[in-house]
Formats: sequence, structure tokens, C-alpha cells
Amino acid sequence: MDSPVYTNDIEEVIENDRAHVWHHLTQHKPFETVDPRIIVEGKGLRVWDARGKEFIDALSGGVWTVNVGYGRTRIADAIREQLVKLNYFANSAGSIPGAIFARNLIERMPGMSRVYFQNSGSEANEKAFKIVRQIAHKRYGGKKNRILYRERDYHGTTISALSACGQPQRYEQYGPFTPGFIEVPHCLEYRSQWGPCEDYGVRAAKAIEEIIVREGPDTIGAICLEPVTAGGGVIPPPEGYWETVQDICKTYDILIHIDEVVCGLGRTGTWFGYQQYGIKPDMVTMAKGVASGYAAIACLVTTEEVFEQFKSDPDDPLDYFRDISTFGGCTAGPAAAIENMAIIEEEGLLENTEIMGIYLAEALSELQGRHPAIGDVRGKGLFYGIELVEDRTTRVPVKESLAQAVVADCMEQGVIVGVTNRSLPGFNNTLCLSPALIATRDDLDQIVGAIDSALGRVFE
Ligand SMILES: Cc1ncc(COP(=O)(O)O)c(C=O)c1O
Repeated sequence: MDSPVYTNDIEEVIENDRAHVWHHLTQHKPFETVDPRIIVEGKGLRVWDARGKEFIDALSGGVWTVNVGYGRTRIADAIREQLVKLNYFANSAGSIPGAIFARNLIERMPGMSRVYFQNSGSEANEKAFKIVRQIAHKRYGGKKNRILYRERDYHGTTISALSACGQPQRYEQYGPFTPGFIEVPHCLEYRSQWGPCEDYGVRAAKAIEEIIVREGPDTIGAICLEPVTAGGGVIPPPEGYWETVQDICKTYDILIHIDEVVCGLGRTGTWFGYQQYGIKPDMVTMAKGVASGYAAIACLVTTEEVFEQFKSDPDDPLDYFRDISTFGGCTAGPAAAIENMAIIEEEGLLENTEIMGIYLAEALSELQGRHPAIGDVRGKGLFYGIELVEDRTTRVPVKESLAQAVVADCMEQGVIVGVTNRSLPGFNNTLCLSPALIATRDDLDQIVGAIDSALGRVFE
């Protein structure tokens, strides 16, 4: 690809960035001696930085977002067309792209019925928490208002989302938090809390039940879980887990809220991660892959049963969902989401994700055979974690600096991979892969090849 086109002098851009931009999740001291990286262009699975260096992006925009890849003019055109017609109107009224996208989405989510628009994953999760709280007031005298969340899961950056955060390094120093959130144990068998067990998945689910009974089932309104934990170490649910969790929730009348902010749309090879495991949710939240980052859009999707409770008494001024998201009325989001979904369907990207996911799993397993530093490989579809250990027998995690050295080496080679980052103290040792759903065998070979060389240089 030709060198990117700049509208500004790039040195000036870098200096402006260094002087004025506060980057996410970043310690800025090093920028006193090295330049901040500026990404200027993307096409397919590749991006270019300000110096013209090309990267293959195995992380879909750094945070598992750009599911259909970069440079989709079709999405950009649809956004432009919509914006010149109507850019915005508050969602108390409807919009053409909003109504069309809601229908398209619900057609792919059997059992679900209503779509509430907003613009970030954190916000979507906050709305779900508010729904649980309001139902508690409407039906249970305010009592059934507590929400379970899981160790290692993440649900967003706002204070209430951080109150439901199972990653200590994300929430430390940001308290005090919103009351009414209770942690349940993680379900990562490789780090079993109960030693080796034959039915680990059922055991981990039963641990949730023990907490429900301890806390009082009449105080717990919902459980919020990622279908596959992302930033907490890429953790697909163990066998038997979800069936048991669902039974438990039914027994104690607890709503199931699935956070699909990373897994939706398509990341695991089905539209949503929960569809891999036969889960019947009451609420689903989604954001990143809904429009692949071409526009900001997030959705909270509920069953009709949940929705119905918010129109039961029109004479009561507090009966309905008294919530608003100003930018939930931006039409660019659903306009982009319609095209994003059409691309996934027309290009067979769910099928590609499934097929390439199997190819990636085999390649990583082969890599594990050759590198003792790889303790565990786990994932689903085009979503994998590679847990690095000092010793396979003791499973002692490698130091964070070594995992980061692997990432830095891959970056040098022009391959962007991720690592669990400021998540769990002592366990920021899992490399993360989530390339765009368009990835080919050649792309995956390049990604795995870079990790192979990096592991060789860092550990041997
Ligand atoms: C599982 C999960 N839920 C929620 C969020 C929060 O989304 P946002 O950053 O759009 O607020 C994230 C962000 O990484 C996430 O990974």
C-alpha cells in the first residue's frame, strides 16, 4: 500500500498528541522520551502508523471492535447518506435506521424482542442494572435489587459498572462504589479454585448457588455475565456451566443479563456468544462489534416479558423506564450497524469465523507443543487467549513484563496482539487474539508466526 496521505505535518501531529492528548489505559511518562503511536489508516486487517509502518491487527482495533475490518466504504457511505438526511433526533421518537436495525437484530435473536439504543458498552450495562432495580421496586417492594457479577469479568468504566467488576486493577482507587453488587467465583478451570475436579463447570455454577443462598435469593434480581470472559483472560465457559447456571436462575427467579459487548456480533462464530451455549437470556447488552467502530452504538436488548413490566400502569407517572441517552438518538449508529450486519451475512463471516477459529486453535495447539511457556490455550471462534507460565507443572504465571515483551516483539514484527492488561494482579499473563472476522489462513499464519518468533526470543 502507498504511504498514507496526511492533511497535517505528521511531526506536528505527534507533538500535539504528546502535548495534549490523554490516552486510555496509558502511563504517559515514557512519552517524554518516545513518540506516542499515531494510527493513520486501515484497510482490511491492516493498519498503518504515522511513520508508514504496516501492522496486521490481531486485536480488531486494540479492543476487539473492528469485526468487519477497516476501510469499508459501504458503511461510510451509508453513514454519510443518513447524516445528510437526518443526523439526530432524540430517541423518544423513532428513526428509519433505528427501526430497521432493531428488526434485523431481533430476527437474529430468537426469544428477544426490544432494543434500547445508546452509545457505549458501559452505558448499556448501566441501563440493564437500572432495569433490574426498577423491577425490584415495581414487583418486590424494592428488595430484589442486588446483582451478581463474576470474578474476572468486566462490564465497563463507569462507577456502577466498576461496582460489578471482577478485575481488581480496573476498580482499585476508584471507590466508593455503588452498593448492591456481589461477586461470584470465576469459571476458569485452568485456575481451578477447588483443585482438579471432574465436573468443574457444574462445581463453578454451584458456587454461584451457594452465594445466592448465603445472601438471600429474595434480595437478588439478576446475574450479569460475559458469555466468554474477554479482558479477564479469554475464558470460555466449562462444560455443564451454563445449563446449571440457568437452572439455578430459574429456581431463584433471577434474571440473566449477558454482556455481549465483546462477543457480539460474530466474534465466536455465531451472532452472539450466548448462542453457542444454549443460553436463554432476559437481557443482552452489546456495543463494540455492532457497527465495528464505524459509529458509536450500543444496544440493550430485552425479552418482551421484561419490557411488558414497563407499561403495565399508564396512570402511574413512575411506571415506565425513565431513562434517556442523548446520543442514543444519533442515526449514524444504526445506519452503520445495518451495513455491518449485512456484510457479516453476505460475506459469510460467521462461517469464516468458525472455520478460521478451528484453524487458529490447531495452530496455537501446535505452538503450545513447541513452547513450554504456553500453559493454556483457550477460546472460541476468532477469539483466543494464550496463557503464559513460568512452569507448566506449577502453572506459576510469567511476570507481566515478560508477557508485555512478547507483545512488544510482535509489534516490532508488524503484528498487533494484546495481553490482559491491568486486570488481575499477578495474572496479566494471557496474550489475546481477536482478528477481524475476515481473517484468512495466511493472516493467521502471519500472526501465529510472529508469536512463535517472539516467544523464542523472550523465553529461550
Ligand atoms: C465485556 C465488556 N463489557 C463492557 C465493556 C465496556 O464497553 P465501553 O468501553 O464501550 O463502555 C467492555 C469494554 O472493553 C467489555 O469488554
